[in-house]
Amino acid sequence: MRTQVAIIGAGPSGLLLGQLLAKHGIDNVILERQTGEYVLGRIRAGVIEKGAADLLDEAGCGARMHREGLIHDGIEISFGGARHRINFKNLIGKSVIVYGQTEITRDLMDGRAAIGAQTIYEAEDVSLHDIGTDRPKVRYSKDGQTHEIECDFIAGCDGFHGVSRKSIPAEVLKTFERVYPFGWLGILVDKPPVSDELIYANHERGFALCSMRSPTRSRLYIQCRLDDKVEDWSDEAFYEELKRRLDDEAIKRLQPGPSIEKSIAPLRSFVAEPMRHGRLFLAGDAAHIVPPTGAKGLNLAASDVYYLWQALVEYYKRQSPAGINAYSARALSRVWKAERFSWWMTSQLHRFPESSGFDQKIQRSELEYLVSSQAAMTALAENYVGLPY
Ligand code: FAD
Ligand code: PHB
Repeated sequence: MRTQVAIIGAGPSGLLLGQLLAKHGIDNVILERQTGEYVLGRIRAGVIEKGAADLLDEAGCGARMHREGLIHDGIEISFGGARHRINFKNLIGKSVIVYGQTEITRDLMDGRAAIGAQTIYEAEDVSLHDIGTDRPKVRYSKDGQTHEIECDFIAGCDGFHGVSRKSIPAEVLKTFERVYPFGWLGILVDKPPVSDELIYANHERGFALCSMRSPTRSRLYIQCRLDDKVEDWSDEAFYEELKRRLDDEAIKRLQPGPSIEKSIAPLRSFVAEPMRHGRLFLAGDAAHIVPPTGAKGLNLAASDVYYLWQALVEYYKRQSPAGINAYSARALSRVWKAERFSWWMTSQLHRFPESSGFDQKIQRSELEYLVSSQAAMTALAENYVGLPY
């Protein structure tokens, strides 16, 4: 088989890139290790920046997001028993959209099916070859048979545990990492949200987040220990712990119900540089991970895809390699800013096991400063709604 761009991974980055390239007449094939249903079963992101939403529109897959997504003009930060609103709309005139990653993935899959572009699900043992030449290849097996795709470029959109990043020689790749000493236990429940906007709570027992997917579906998280197991957390225990971390008004409005999904995510900051090696480009979680506190993971995947899509269009339509040569530096510049913001949000809102009395006083003081300073709230708003591409 031959294609122009072989894309590894049918998560949001691979599907979005595939759709944008196809719209511009650039042929591509996506290889995905899992089934489509499995990919759709992973409950992850919920907050979409304007830039990512615009890109979904550009890909022709934004209609349902505009119909069903919830526009949020701000967030609430809770500490010391009180909630404080950060009003993005007033501060910087911008908003975000609350719309699940699962729904985005579904819209992109439907869009891809509608244009008849090829996705090979359950592709096993994907391996990358000759990425240092201008004739790279991808091999995979399916139903016991080995296949090979010849291409011009490979886009590694296969997430943190994928094969693409590992295909870059160790002496070329530099990685930067921070692993946080806690995780997030999250549940999805068919009950209305506690509040109209997301509540990010800092509490001495640990962080909590009340998010949502729709007016009738809540997504709730609490900071948990790294060695906690999902099986050890009954729904009752989850709600009891969540309530301890919320303000009285939120507790009153919380409607506990049976969880329809429950999972634990570890928190990590990670960046791999460069994001290009020869004819291989990394995009999304394949190149970087942010802790979810800043709601940036999916949004960063979208900005990588934006730079890569533009670069490939420039290469094919204007015969210029300038964009592909600049890709890694352009993407990384935005990646590091989102890494900084996500690290900062995580540091301000969580309880760190090793933190001293001094550290806790500084954290509290930082939060008090934040909610009393127009400048500090503007800085948060600007980063949360998303820095320009
Ligand atoms: P992935 O979604 O990981 O997709 C990669 C795909 O590649 C997968 O389908 C995988 O099966 C496939 N794959 C892997 N290895 C191979 C292989 N060898 N061969 C073929 N295919 C392979 N981000 C936000 O922006 N906002 C949020 O509010 C937010 N909340 C989050 C909450 C949680 C609890 C978590 C865990 C994450 C959250 N994120 C959020 C992050 C966001 O979900 C990720 O950044 C996003 O999924 C990255 O997309 P991706 O396509 O790069 O990678
Ligand atoms: C979510 O709804 O899953 C969500 C929202 C905001 C975050 C992280 C996750 O910061």
